[in-house]
Amino acid sequence: MIVVILTASLELGVVQSSTVVGYYSHSCPAAEKIVSQVVAEQFATRPLVAAGILRLYFHDCFVEGCDGSILLDASPDGTPPEKRSLANNNTATGFELVDAAKRRIEAVCPGTVSCADILALAARDSVAISGGPRWEEPTGRYDGRVSLASNADGSIPGPSFNLTRLIHSFANKTLDSRDLVTLSGGHTIGRSHCANFQIRLYNSSGTGLPDPALNPAYATALRRICPNTSPARRATLSLDRGSEIPFDNSYFVQLLAGNGLLRSDEELLLDGSMRGLISAFAANQRLFFREFAKAMVKLGGIGVKDSIQGEIRLHCRRVNRRNSGSSPRVPTPPPPIMRSRAPPPPY
Ligand code: HEM
Ligand SMILES: *[C@@H]1O[C@H](CO)[C@@H](O)[C@H](O)[C@H]1NC(C)=O
Ligand SMILES: *[C@@H]1O[C@H](CO)[C@@H](O)[C@H](O)[C@H]1NC(C)=O
Ligand SMILES: *[C@@H]1O[C@H](CO)[C@@H](O)[C@H](O)[C@H]1NC(C)=O
Ligand SMILES: *[C@@H]1O[C@H](CO)[C@@H](O)[C@H](O)[C@H]1NC(C)=O
Repeated sequence: MIVVILTASLELGVVQSSTVVGYYSHSCPAAEKIVSQVVAEQFATRPLVAAGILRLYFHDCFVEGCDGSILLDASPDGTPPEKRSLANNNTATGFELVDAAKRRIEAVCPGTVSCADILALAARDSVAISGGPRWEEPTGRYDGRVSLASNADGSIPGPSFNLTRLIHSFANKTLDSRDLVTLSGGHTIGRSHCANFQIRLYNSSGTGLPDPALNPAYATALRRICPNTSPARRATLSLDRGSEIPFDNSYFVQLLAGNGLLRSDEELLLDGSMRGLISAFAANQRLFFREFAKAMVKLGGIGVKDSIQGEIRLHCRRVNRRNSGSSPRVPTPPPPIMRSRAPPPPY
């Protein structure tokens, strides 16, 4: 019996689910507009929420695929969920925006629009409202039921990764080194805590010296904001020097000038062809925008789940109770694969 279940789930793992533009145009025509409105409302008072959402989406897609797993407050087995992983705990933001959009959508189309799609649309709109490109976002993702911090820790690349590890991390998600450079351009908005680059300022590679790749004037400025103390590790700085709110190509301009904040940003310059792409993006914002839109659609296709592998969650922070909340579009869904697991904790 166990063998049968394992085989079945392995087979399901290879099924390629797909998404389409306008998936909700009949079942919930207001869905995309509602997400745009919520993004616009929150951006008006807190423009950095756009950065939080973009990062949330990247971290969702890299763990269990783009299935809203990062949004869950609890894991099925009581261990910490994705949002408590090292890469997310206390730095992932934007959850309330997703909750607000979900509430409004549920009021008009109950049980129809997945949390995974709401996050994907919110990420698309966050880039657009920040001044970046706008693209048609394919939808039709189902929500996952599993969220484990340990999965996130093994999948989300870290800020001290070298180029080899960055390339491997992206390749494992079917993204190439061009996608790596292009999507790192997401660092044109938002901030980083000092903890994530402090080692570059004081003791790079155990030398006791700052990272020689850092522009010395920039390094001096960074050391003032991030003194080598523990409380200072919680201070934050713009990832794109001097331009943390507009989505533009200045991240690439700054990178070439020695003003890249994270070591992982700096690493992208080490490969000749990647450096060439960085120069091209620094010189041509339209090119960057076109490529970024393409790469985001590719990111959004990672590990998409169908109605058998996932569900339409009624609340983005928790999985549906058994025998409830399955989508009206799927009258008799097959039993979920995870049925033999313990039920989720009650809320
Ligand atoms: C290439 C590997 C990447 C690494 C190592 C990395 C690492 C990081 C780190 C350490 C932070 C700062 C978190 C904090 O201290 O609060 C950050 C922020 C951010 N990352 Fe990345 N990142 C990567 C790729 C990406 C990609 C592909 C995107 C999206 C397309 C992205 C979007 C963002 C955004 C928007 C922020 C700012 C978040 C905020 O202000 O709340 N990153 N990243
Ligand atoms: C997440 O951060 C909180 C607050 O800093 C801390 O109490 C908690 O232990 C952290 N969770 C994990 C799983 O590390
Ligand atoms: C990159 O990091 C990995 C893991 O830490 C290490 O094994 C590898 O030698 C490093 N590669 C380079 C080129 O430094
Ligand atoms: C990604 O890594 C996992 C775990 O090591 C592996 O099972 C999977 O086949 C890899 N996928 C790709 C596309 O490399
Ligand atoms: C720098 O790091 C190395 C090894 O990581 C450590 O041995 C050394 O004591 C550190 N130096 C300073 C000044 O913190």
